[in-house]
Amino acid sequence: MQVLFYIKLSAVINENESFVVPHFLPYFGHLFQYMRDPLKFLLSCRQRYGSTFTLKVMGQRTTFVMDPRNWNAIIKNSNLSFPGTELATRAFGITPDALGHDEIDVQMRKDYPKGLQNDSLKELIAHFVQNIREEMIKDKQELKNTIKTCGLLDLCHLMIFVPSIRTIYGEIDVHSYEKSFEKFNSNIQLLFINVPSFIKSTFFQKTLNARDYLIQQLSNIEHVQNQSRMTKMRTDLMKMYPQYFSSSDIGGNHLAFLWASVGNTIPAAFWTLFHILRDCRALEQLQEEVRENLPVLKLDENIEFDENSWTVEKLAKCVLLESAVNETLRMYGAPMMLRTCSSNTQIQTYDGKTLSIRKNDRISLFPAASHYDERLFHEPFIYKFDRFLNNTIINNLELDRQKVPIAYMPFGTGKTMCPGKYFAKNEIKICLALIFQQIEYKFIDETTPKTRADRVGFGVAPPSKDVQIQYWYQ
Ligand code: HEM
Repeated sequence: MQVLFYIKLSAVINENESFVVPHFLPYFGHLFQYMRDPLKFLLSCRQRYGSTFTLKVMGQRTTFVMDPRNWNAIIKNSNLSFPGTELATRAFGITPDALGHDEIDVQMRKDYPKGLQNDSLKELIAHFVQNIREEMIKDKQELKNTIKTCGLLDLCHLMIFVPSIRTIYGEIDVHSYEKSFEKFNSNIQLLFINVPSFIKSTFFQKTLNARDYLIQQLSNIEHVQNQSRMTKMRTDLMKMYPQYFSSSDIGGNHLAFLWASVGNTIPAAFWTLFHILRDCRALEQLQEEVRENLPVLKLDENIEFDENSWTVEKLAKCVLLESAVNETLRMYGAPMMLRTCSSNTQIQTYDGKTLSIRKNDRISLFPAASHYDERLFHEPFIYKFDRFLNNTIINNLELDRQKVPIAYMPFGTGKTMCPGKYFAKNEIKICLALIFQQIEYKFIDETTPKTRADRVGFGVAPPSKDVQIQYWYQ
């Protein structure tokens, strides 16, 4: 009788659990299907099993909630938290002792708007424009009126990597970081996976060496000139707690921030340029907008840089550019927002049902699910540069006549939402505007690259192959 009662009870609990997608491999579970093409796999699971389903990867159960009407309930649930400690330890080598201290996390999040928004944003933009101008002057001098053949992603890297890092970290020798960053960044997705450490050290040694080099370089930068307010605040905060942060933990934290700041911005600039430069109608309109709002930035080292030439206010007037960047982030900004469940939890869904999540299970919100939902975005697989003109669409997203305020979230949402989003968008706008003003180009490669499947879920996925162009200065 007792047994019967137990079986019945567990059936009731399971009824509210989401469907586990069948798999045949013990332990690895859905890993290989998922890794082949995560976006395609997840969208096909939604089509076959509905908007909530569970996958198992390396023994970890993860429930994917693909309907944005349920996202708010998940974000607000206090049993579900961002597994920051685990991810930061695996990917950035920060020791667990230096993570998960509420008083420090709260202070760091309070510092983000102080260091990245309002007046600090104005300062960051002025320095970024100055730094990008310097890099372009160097590049122009090296070219000496000749034509350069390179990848479009390489050009975006040239325009963003050094200028962005100098803007945030000051006068460090960024060029000495480049090779290691490339090695680390190209395989960082492997470090996020939960595998035993001996596997990591056997198979990912080069990536780990590159990471350790970067950590070491960034572990002692407090005396560097011209650092941003953000970096100073972060370093000061960590130095206040020597009992938690070793110098290597400080380096790991700076590396995490550095990766967050350039790891997504460079591929986002690439995809925006890739679509705009090949669309004459879009290009003409955007060039006109830049001509109207931004004065020509002279690439001549003898002319002093005027820091009021390109300001946040002038960039804000470039609404078509803003829309083009937002459209890129709709199509390519596909973060996987993970939450870990601290105890058995019941979530009320928008349609009055209950979703049960087991202790230690993960929940994943996948914004690409709504970014590619044709009920929210007409012809979602087509890049439309003016789709977000004046942002009206973001405020009016509806499903079944019900407003869905968080269906567009390339920068995440809730307390871990990207604090660098205004800086990131302005960096991309500046990069595009300067290319319109200063550079002539020709595509050698006419094919459209795919996104790197293994990077879907980690922010903006880069192309699987760079697109060759030729460019020269006007
Ligand atoms: C196109 C460029 C960018 C994209 C798409 C992007 C996207 C994101 C996303 C989705 C998250 C939230 C992750 C989550 O909640 O699970 C995030 C967090 C973060 N981003 Fe960005 N980001 C970009 C650029 C930047 C820049 C330029 C900076 C700094 C200058 C930055 C700094 C951060 C930081 C510090 C966090 C962690 C916030 C926290 O945990 O409280 N990001 N970003």
